[in-house]
Amino acid sequence: MAVTLWATMAVSLLSAQVRKEIYLNKGWSFQRGDIKGAEQPDFNDQNWQKINIPHDWAITGPFDKEIDKQTVAITQNGETIPSEKTGRTGALPYIGVGWYRTTLPKESLAGRRASIIFDGAMSEARVYINGKEVGFWPYGYNSFHFDITPFLGVEGENVLAVRLENQPESSRWYPGAGLYRPVRLLFTNEIAVVPWGLSVTTPVVSDSLAQISIKAELNAHQNKKLRAVTTVLDQKSHVLLTKEANLVWRGIPIEENLILERPALWSPERPALYLAKIELYDGDRLVDVDSVRFGIREVKVNAHGGFMLNGKSRKIKGVCLHHDLGPLGAAINKAALKRQLLIMKEMGADAIRTAHNMPSPWQMELCDELGLMVMAESFDEWKAAKCKNGYNRFFDEWAERDLVNLIRCHRNHPSIVMWSIGNEVPEQSMDGGNRIAKRLQDICHREDPTRPVTIGMDRVDNAIANNFAALLDVPGLNYRTHRYQTAYDKLPQGFILGSETASTVSSRGVYKYPVQPYQQKTYPDAQSSSYDLESCSWSNLPEEDWELQDDKPWVIGEFVWTGFDYLGEPTPYDQVWPSRSSYFGICDLAGLPKDRYYLYRSKWNQEAHTLHLLPHWTWSGKEGDTIPVYCYTDFPEAELFVNGVSQGRIKKNPASKLDRYRLRWNKVVYQPGTLKVVAYNENGAIAQEKEVHTAGKPSGLRLSADRNQLIADGVDLSFITVEVIDSEGNLCPDAAIPLSFTVEGSGSFKAVCNGDATSLEPFHIPQMKTFNGKLVFIVQAVEKKGAIRVKVSGAQLKSERMTLEVE
Ligand code: GAL
Repeated sequence: MAVTLWATMAVSLLSAQVRKEIYLNKGWSFQRGDIKGAEQPDFNDQNWQKINIPHDWAITGPFDKEIDKQTVAITQNGETIPSEKTGRTGALPYIGVGWYRTTLPKESLAGRRASIIFDGAMSEARVYINGKEVGFWPYGYNSFHFDITPFLGVEGENVLAVRLENQPESSRWYPGAGLYRPVRLLFTNEIAVVPWGLSVTTPVVSDSLAQISIKAELNAHQNKKLRAVTTVLDQKSHVLLTKEANLVWRGIPIEENLILERPALWSPERPALYLAKIELYDGDRLVDVDSVRFGIREVKVNAHGGFMLNGKSRKIKGVCLHHDLGPLGAAINKAALKRQLLIMKEMGADAIRTAHNMPSPWQMELCDELGLMVMAESFDEWKAAKCKNGYNRFFDEWAERDLVNLIRCHRNHPSIVMWSIGNEVPEQSMDGGNRIAKRLQDICHREDPTRPVTIGMDRVDNAIANNFAALLDVPGLNYRTHRYQTAYDKLPQGFILGSETASTVSSRGVYKYPVQPYQQKTYPDAQSSSYDLESCSWSNLPEEDWELQDDKPWVIGEFVWTGFDYLGEPTPYDQVWPSRSSYFGICDLAGLPKDRYYLYRSKWNQEAHTLHLLPHWTWSGKEGDTIPVYCYTDFPEAELFVNGVSQGRIKKNPASKLDRYRLRWNKVVYQPGTLKVVAYNENGAIAQEKEVHTAGKPSGLRLSADRNQLIADGVDLSFITVEVIDSEGNLCPDAAIPLSFTVEGSGSFKAVCNGDATSLEPFHIPQMKTFNGKLVFIVQAVEKKGAIRVKVSGAQLKSERMTLEVE
């Protein structure tokens, strides 16, 4: 990645003279409330809160049951009678108006153009410069930009103000609130590539050569004569190809085609990247330099090969991700995004779906670099409402503009392998729904002829009967594993994608008895069992998807709901306070893996073995009771021992859904001591062993940081996992101990989360109770090199310290 940075920097030094992008992250003032009307130039913001962006005004809470309490029937969940839903949008104060103001940096404007680019603003953004409205963008998830040249004063201060407004009942989950993604200012000369105007496609891809087509849309006078120098560089900034052409600007994008021999192809396994650069000359004067990173790869879907990347069929091993970052809320942070993606990659995932909306450019850059394919989604709602005040209010007027922005902003990311124009839209069952689907898909094809288009469909029979499903490039089914065969038989495409799968629910470290599969199961403590046998009335267990993928060549993979728990949508506890975040995650809200993580890892991760035992083995008072033991492993066979006594050597059994992918000992009788599993490989030889011990009393803490070295940039993060342990170092699996955190030196405390979906403790106060023995707290580097000294303390526990370096 360092090399990529160098390549980017080399180009940006050259381009800095003609094109300057300024990231407006600091020096903002923020005010909540019912401030109405247009911004006044002399508005006094002295007493406003001083903040940096990305910023989420609602994440500090407090949680409140009354916030956005919705009395609704969630029809897509099969409900017909309205009932009171608390916590549906996270019970956090996202509703209302927020104003942001900042003074723009001084820049010589003579002969220059200025644009302001938002990667996303939640929501209904009205942008003002010096009190005058520049533009409006309602959809909170999309990137948008405005030309602000005519609004800027040539001399003196230019004040940028943004008014955001979030309506109640506008979302099915926590949307976040505020300028939660970057805002950038772009200065160019009068003649320049327009924002998002540079695009790269690779129409021919093979191991021996690739055609690289570079297109640029310019701002220039008609018939202006220019010279363009187009260059392709590798990740080490070596110039690989270059071409020069004289041209006359006629209002249609200029295009240059270059042939690269022996290209390094982009794939999740080897995410090779290149840089395309264009220099524009007016006579001998350099007027613009723009560049964009790209990858060389080919995406195809058809009945013959299913989903193919670079000519090879593969089944997508994907997860759906909501945009929030747990305790950080919606305010994005590169280190936090990267951590999420690395956790998913380590599990063996090769794809994400940005459910149900436009991703952030930062996240897509990371997917390019780390090697994760992306289904980039747009809408959860078209014209027919799912939420009273949702996107339906804007669909007619804005849908095309929103799709265009999604595609223009993101089309150069090799990671994006398909666009999604919607999720479970009611139009599947409505007259004319197919026409809307066709129109949206056509817009995608017009803007980007290189990628297929999909929709997540849940009303399978209607979508088939209405010729809705048949017209899509990729028919995506959400759940409904029992309808896959019908859909395959009736649809013309010849393959089916599991656009959304599983929705198994669990709480980390919680085990319920008796152990058996349930749907919509609830318990008095508002938790779900981590034996991974509980789902919703519409959803299923991981195995049901895997059987289809393994047995039907035409199932092209899946996107599991979801990689991480997210704020809001606390199914199956939608009506139970204080549940305020989801139970669907493979990892909890803190990013800690639940048992399910290892189930997916055992199937997906081809690089490393998995051997995981559940439950824990500390069951005081249950001596003599039956405690089923499960092992999630890629090995075909294993033997389990309790205190040295064999509980049987068993093999995976393809004839039984649950025993095909898990090893289960259902009749183990609990005795404190040691639970041990010995795994055997295909040849019957011992391959690996694992032990779990009964824990004693909590005596200390174990800290482990995801990163011990941070960058002194004021935003970098380290996620420190804290475990309560006994004197032997065993995790105390039911410890609920209040901890407090001090952070000194070159960092500060940022947030804490224990993954308990019912916790009302705020994330931003440096104290929290462990949930089932664990939590994660987050430390942020300041802009000064040095050491961060961290101390974690809890009553009757030896406190623990850790030092991180900031460089
Ligand atoms: C799906 C929906 C998701 C989420 C999920 C929960 O129907 O697309 O957004 O609500 O159900 O199972």
